[in-house]
Amino acid sequence: MLLPKDRGFVHPKASEITPQPVYRSRRRWVATAAATLLAPRLAWAAGATAAPKGAVLVGAHSAVPGAITMDKPTSLADATGYNNFYEFGLDKSDPAEYAHTLKTRPWSVAIEGAVRRPGPLGIEDLLKLGAMEERVYRMRCVEGWSMVIPWVGFSLAELIRKVEPTGNAKYVQFVTLADRAQMPGLRSSVLDWPYVEGLRLDEAMNPLTLLTFGMYGQVLPNQNGAPVRVVVPWKYGFKSGKSIVKIRFVEQQPATSWSQAAPQEYGFYSNVNPTVDHPRWSQASERRIGEGGLFAKKRATLMFNGYEAQVGQLYAGMDLKKWF
Ligand code: MTE
Repeated sequence: MLLPKDRGFVHPKASEITPQPVYRSRRRWVATAAATLLAPRLAWAAGATAAPKGAVLVGAHSAVPGAITMDKPTSLADATGYNNFYEFGLDKSDPAEYAHTLKTRPWSVAIEGAVRRPGPLGIEDLLKLGAMEERVYRMRCVEGWSMVIPWVGFSLAELIRKVEPTGNAKYVQFVTLADRAQMPGLRSSVLDWPYVEGLRLDEAMNPLTLLTFGMYGQVLPNQNGAPVRVVVPWKYGFKSGKSIVKIRFVEQQPATSWSQAAPQEYGFYSNVNPTVDHPRWSQASERRIGEGGLFAKKRATLMFNGYEAQVGQLYAGMDLKKWF
């Protein structure tokens, strides 16, 4: 993510992009997914400060329409080594290097605002609120690169239904952890902390919006937003807030970090839209991380990142150039 005061889009060095073999071959991947029709197995002891590295978190292959893209998954090394998580630094390699200081246990998420059942939800209870599923989503960053990631979680709608929003709940805001003791990036004033994001209630209720606890069959690594984040596959990556501590149901469109920092560049909606350029660069194409490095042919970016059939109706009648 770049602010107007930055010098411009900095392309990653070729050495930062690891042309890795696929995460698993497609055949083996499908076989593994078929073998994981199990209830979530949480293989760590209660009371630990973190789930052990690589702890298993598997789910059934999702039946939600559009939830499993057949695009080749990005390598685990790229998905966990090339990240945006400004609380741990601005370079793509910083989160992998510094996020080990994040304590993910104990953890709770406060449910606030226009709901009949507000209150704190401990992470262990939150994990049990829905049936874990594996979803393979295309992810498109506003910076012009993309990945394909097998996430594990359940639809955010399952949580929303359980907390019973009132008629005043029109939007959902996600507030993420801001703790200087754990997050060295908070010393920078590049954003107002905590990092906040938001969705309209119907966007949050769309079955594709995933409350995410894992990836590649394991609990989320810290750099990818442990212990819980959202993933919204038809929007630019920055809408997918990491390490969430509060979910607020509100009547007015809530503040979101990037549109506060640079409102002319990052709108509230931020749907992936090849026809609406970022003011300083085109959004018509993207570079798939791991696909042949800097000189590989770019892919055409798809409307709503390819999820138009599932989410296009949410924006019927809206001028998407105005509501970018
Ligand atoms: N969440 C928090 N708390 N802080 C961040 O800096 N960056 C966003 C989003 N969520 C960010 C965040 C951006 S810009 C992107 S592209 C995605 O996380 C990256 O997610 P990934 O690193 O798991 O691919």
